[in-house]
Amino acid sequence: MKILVTGGAGFIGSNFVRLVESEKPDWQVVVIDKLTYAGRRENLENTRAQFVEGDICDPIIVAQAMEGCDMVFNFAAESHVDRSLMGDPNLAGAFVQTDVYGVYVLCEAAKRAQVQRFIQVSTDEVYGDVHDGYSVESDPLEPRSPYAASKAGGELIARSYGISHGLPVITTRGSNTFGPYQFPEKLIPLMATNAIDDGALPIYGDGLQRRDWIYALDHALGILIAGEKGNPGEAYNVGGGNERFNKDVVFDILRLLGKPDSLIRHVEDRAGHDRRYALNFDKIKALGYAPRFDFESALEATVRWYQERQDWWRPIRDGEDYRDYYNRQYSARLAGS
Ligand code: NAD
Ligand code: TYD
Repeated sequence: MKILVTGGAGFIGSNFVRLVESEKPDWQVVVIDKLTYAGRRENLENTRAQFVEGDICDPIIVAQAMEGCDMVFNFAAESHVDRSLMGDPNLAGAFVQTDVYGVYVLCEAAKRAQVQRFIQVSTDEVYGDVHDGYSVESDPLEPRSPYAASKAGGELIARSYGISHGLPVITTRGSNTFGPYQFPEKLIPLMATNAIDDGALPIYGDGLQRRDWIYALDHALGILIAGEKGNPGEAYNVGGGNERFNKDVVFDILRLLGKPDSLIRHVEDRAGHDRRYALNFDKIKALGYAPRFDFESALEATVRWYQERQDWWRPIRDGEDYRDYYNRQYSARLAGS
């Protein structure tokens, strides 16, 4: 089996490559990644994957990378909600470009290459804000941020290739993911790295928003199982079963690091902030998926990883790019808190 992993130098993609190498030692893995601010070669350290630097929007390089592949796992995306909200057309436009147009380019190439499976990695955010109960796969897509809308658009493009051209598309919709190699703009690594440095921890609004958390290797496992055992044309929720208030996650991180709650600042909320995501994931459980990691020990392992791997995150956080982003996103908020 030869697989193409797009966005494999990112957070979940690189964890997926590691999982595949341990679960399927005879599979050949090709990674294509544009190495945006979020993609890093070092995320693939100690893996055997063949690496192609390239953009999924480029049909020529995509066709080359896909040659001989049996399955495509599309992780490549602009993935951060806050960046999709920044009033900068270059930033918000990149979401539509990669998360929608890029999916079209991949589907065209996959159709020509006659791949056996095309796995579109999507998110629980496509369901929108979930007041009560749990999202099931047949629920309407009601995305509310430019990120979530772009991911929903990508899903629909892939779905249309399944219906119109018989491309064997399987979609996964995963919960909020955490673990090693996550870029320190997302909640858990941002709070852990700030707290290690005794910096302020900016919680949006009241911090009573809820997310279902899943460890990266469990999310990767769900995607692998969906790809191998799922039915073309179907979507599968990949949940962790760990619903937590944001505030409680931040308290847990502080406790694990032995830092005081006084580092917390309640800052101006994110625009259109979804209060809750929650998945019913019975459908993928029926394929044999069950999370292997419990939230508390996986969070502890993650926080310890950030303590130990300062060689990984300090160069990111000290870089001009990250500092610019951080200032734009947080300076005024923290000044007003
Ligand atoms: P990430 O931002 O860490 O990684 C994305 C990767 O895609 C990076 O390596 C980046 O360089 C690459 N990339 C971006 N644009 C590209 C392009 N045009 N061509 C080629 N490569 C490109 O994201 P992540 O958190 O690992 O998310 C991976 C996938 O999982 C995304 O599709 C995301 O929507 C989905 N997802 C993420 C979460 C989460 O909590 N992080 C939850 C559910 C689903
Ligand atoms: P995030 O990791 O950005 O994931 P998503 O927006 O995809 O759910 O954020 C998780 C939650 O944490 C979300 O409700 C927003 C909140 N949050 C903060 O309160 N402060 C922060 O600095 C960040 C990055 C997130």
